[in-house]
Amino acid sequence: MEPRAKLSGLGFLACLVLFSMFYLSSSYTQVVRNIPSEYVQDEVQHPIANQSDLILKQTFPEPEEKFMNKIRDQLSQDNILVIATANYGMRDYVYNWIISLEKTGHEKYVVFCIDNDLYNHLEVNGYGNHASKIPFEWFHKPIEASFSDYYSPTYAAITHAKTLVVQRLLYFGFTVFFSDVDIVWLQPHVVDFLAGRLSVREESHVLFQQEGYDQTNINSGFYIMRPEYSMKKLLADTIELQDTGEYTQQGAMNQALYNLDMDMRTSPVVLLDLFLFPNGFAYFQNDVPQRWGVQPYIAHANYLVADEKRDALRRHGLWYVNETMIEKADAAVSQLHKEQEEGDEK
Ligand SMILES: *[C@@H]1O[C@H](CO)[C@@H](O)[C@H](O)[C@H]1NC(C)=O
Ligand SMILES: *[C@@H]1O[C@H](CO)[C@@H](O)[C@H](O)[C@H]1NC(C)=O
Repeated sequence: MEPRAKLSGLGFLACLVLFSMFYLSSSYTQVVRNIPSEYVQDEVQHPIANQSDLILKQTFPEPEEKFMNKIRDQLSQDNILVIATANYGMRDYVYNWIISLEKTGHEKYVVFCIDNDLYNHLEVNGYGNHASKIPFEWFHKPIEASFSDYYSPTYAAITHAKTLVVQRLLYFGFTVFFSDVDIVWLQPHVVDFLAGRLSVREESHVLFQQEGYDQTNINSGFYIMRPEYSMKKLLADTIELQDTGEYTQQGAMNQALYNLDMDMRTSPVVLLDLFLFPNGFAYFQNDVPQRWGVQPYIAHANYLVADEKRDALRRHGLWYVNETMIEKADAAVSQLHKEQEEGDEK
């Protein structure tokens, strides 16, 4: 073949590559345009005020020294604080969560107790160092002491408390690792792993578990969040939307994410791998990690309500709770109640 013919062959190839690149990029644009209208409309319907100044100037008074010391004693590396929030009605899940952390060698964590009964219960069982009452001024709405099913009125109040606690802790400068108590930790070094994931990319301010399969929604029950401006804004916006009463906490947080840069190359928001951090739909309903022989770090029993939750955990050998131990402490907590009432009468 003559050199000239070779060159024009190369030219043809180059044209082909350029053309297919153009074709691919135009079809990509079409896909992007097909975002379901419900998401786009929502964004327009609920504009959030620009609260930048407010967020930057916002401060919260530090609670008393004893309270802060207890929290600081439970810090992991890199100023990471592993926390859960719960009330008395959720105590069996709280213990299941705690035991799963113990089994996997995670010794540092704090359970923020929405009511005194849960706090006393944990103390009776020797977990006083890991239990903290939520200061009354941190939340605005009273909360009932029964386990709340998804979408019940008290569920909204409990989940509201989740956001308020994390917000305070961010303003105190902690990196907050939040976990719902219907999550079972399955492997050692979960905190190390996520600390590493954060440390390799400065721009990552939060790592979220994802909801469902697609990447349109985060799960607000498992995440690690740095005390950065972007995250304070996310929480402020979430709280503002929650206060409208139109959203669940998770719905509000997903909506608030529209205000952040969500370009995967620059975003502060990063999703955790679905196979390693499966939600309940993936783990309990579709065996996603199991089918591919993946050992996940956690399993989240969301997507399941009431008895289904516990049953699913039991079936998978992930229900660790000793019911006798709980009943014994229940009796001790009732006794405390009685003594308090008698004390009040005197
Ligand atoms: C919000 O307000 C801040 C401070 O006033 C300003 O710097 C920023 O550009 C505003 N952002 C938007 C999106 O308007
Ligand atoms: C459960 O707790 C009770 C009371 O603390 C204890 O006596 C019993 O041995 C425990 N059962 C198991 C299986 O650990």
